[in-house]
Amino acid sequence: MSKRDFLSVDDVEPAELAAILDGADRHKADRRARGTLGGRTVALIFEKPSTRTRVSFEVAVHELGGYPLPLAGAELQLGRGETLEDTAAVLSRYVHAIVLRTFAQESLERLARGGTVPVVNALSDYSHPCQALADLQTIREGKGHLAGIRLAYLGDGNNVAHSLLFAGAKMGMHVAMATPVGYEPIPQVVRRASEIAAATGGSVELTHDPATAAKDADVLYTDVWASMGKEMEHGERALIFKPYQLSTDTVMAAAPDVMVLHCLPAHRGEEIAAEVMDGPNSAVFDQAENRLHTQKALLSWLLTGSSDPS
Ligand code: CP
Ligand code: NVA
Repeated sequence: MSKRDFLSVDDVEPAELAAILDGADRHKADRRARGTLGGRTVALIFEKPSTRTRVSFEVAVHELGGYPLPLAGAELQLGRGETLEDTAAVLSRYVHAIVLRTFAQESLERLARGGTVPVVNALSDYSHPCQALADLQTIREGKGHLAGIRLAYLGDGNNVAHSLLFAGAKMGMHVAMATPVGYEPIPQVVRRASEIAAATGGSVELTHDPATAAKDADVLYTDVWASMGKEMEHGERALIFKPYQLSTDTVMAAAPDVMVLHCLPAHRGEEIAAEVMDGPNSAVFDQAENRLHTQKALLSWLLTGSSDPS
């Protein structure tokens, strides 16, 4: 059987996604369930900062009975020009899976092609599929189901937005995305997500009007206005994105029991008002916790074929 990678949410079929979420629920129900990795080593390479992804992967591998091996990209020979393909070939002789946080999606694709072990995208400029798994688990926990859920995303059409489009479409959700002009998700992602949604009964809607997207939403979602690598644009973006803040008015426009999500880290007073982030509708810390459970299920699935605890 050929190896599977998880570079994008679009690498998995809706039924596989559902099985990973079911496994994540079981891992969550029994945090002490161990053993699915049976001593396997997982390399965790980070070329950008991380709190949640790095710590949750490290703890996940440890709790599954594996050995997490965190590596800073700059400290590998990669930082001195060794190719991704050679790095992948070598690491494949030592470890059983590679998790990479990087800039270009192409780097993940090259790593996956060059090696013989599963490669997991821990965030690139293009996508953040592991985040989307936790988002889906959190929504399903809160709402009881995913199909038909109306999710409104306000802000930057970035990596998190791209993965949410794929994830929502795969699970038959209605995703409405409001971004400023010039900050839309990339057209290929929108086209592909719309195609998937057409088959699952979901939908994808793009707008520049945050009020249109937020109206009657079951879930409100936002992310930082300046992603890692875009810090220089922070000032300019703060002005452009101001109308897209997830504010108390946005919450009032949504469904009465709306769930508020943010992948974190958050900037209170920018993309999300402090009273919304810390308010009764917010599930952001459950969402952060679910990174652990979904990544356990994902690693188990990639390495053993089953997402369940042993
Ligand atoms: N949401 C997320 O990926 O957070 P980190 O950057 O802290 O890993
Ligand atoms: N869009 C953000 C997500 C951080 C988890 C970034 O790429 O910085």
